[in-house]
Amino acid sequence: MDTDVESPSCQCAGGDADDIDLEPLDAILDEHENDPGALIPVLQATQEHYGYLPRPALETVAARRGVPLSAVYGVGTFYAQFHLRPRGEHVVRICHGTACHVRGAPDVTRAVVEELDLRVGETSEDLRFTLESVACVGCCGLAPVMLVDQRTYGQLDSSDAHGIAAALREGVVP
Ligand code: FES
Repeated sequence: MDTDVESPSCQCAGGDADDIDLEPLDAILDEHENDPGALIPVLQATQEHYGYLPRPALETVAARRGVPLSAVYGVGTFYAQFHLRPRGEHVVRICHGTACHVRGAPDVTRAVVEELDLRVGETSEDLRFTLESVACVGCCGLAPVMLVDQRTYGQLDSSDAHGIAAALREGVVP
C-alpha cells in the first residue's frame, strides 16, 4: 500500500456541513466585532467550537466581518492550525522529519495505515481517527516518533506501531 499518498480530497468543500448550527458564531463574532485585525482569533474560536472550519461558518464570518470569502479561506488554508474538514476523535501524527525518516518512519507509517485502514491525510468515516504526516516535532532523540493526540511515542518499530494502532482501534489509548 502506498503510504505516501495524501488524500486527494478537495480541502475547500468544508465537509458535510449542511446541518451546522450557526447560532454560536454570533457570540464569537460579537466578541471581536470592533477589532478589524481579529480574523485569526475568530477562526480559532470557530474551530474550537466546531472542531474544524465548516464552510457555512466561514461564509458567515466573511459576511459579518465584511471581507471576501476568499480572504477568509486564504487565512484558513495558510495556517496549519486550521482544518477545513472534520477531524477524528484521535489525531495520529507520524513524524517524517529527517531523523525519524531514516530511523524507520516509513515502516511505522505502513503499520499504522494497515491497522487503521486509513491513508495519510485521511479521517475515518466514523470520525474516530485522523492520520497525518508531520515534520520534525522536536524530539529527534526518540526517533522514529508518533503522536496520538497529546501523547508522544518514541523509538518505535513497526510492531510497536501496530500495537498502538490496534489498541486505539479497541478504544484504548496505550
Ligand atoms: S525528525 Fe522526528 S522528531 Fe525530529
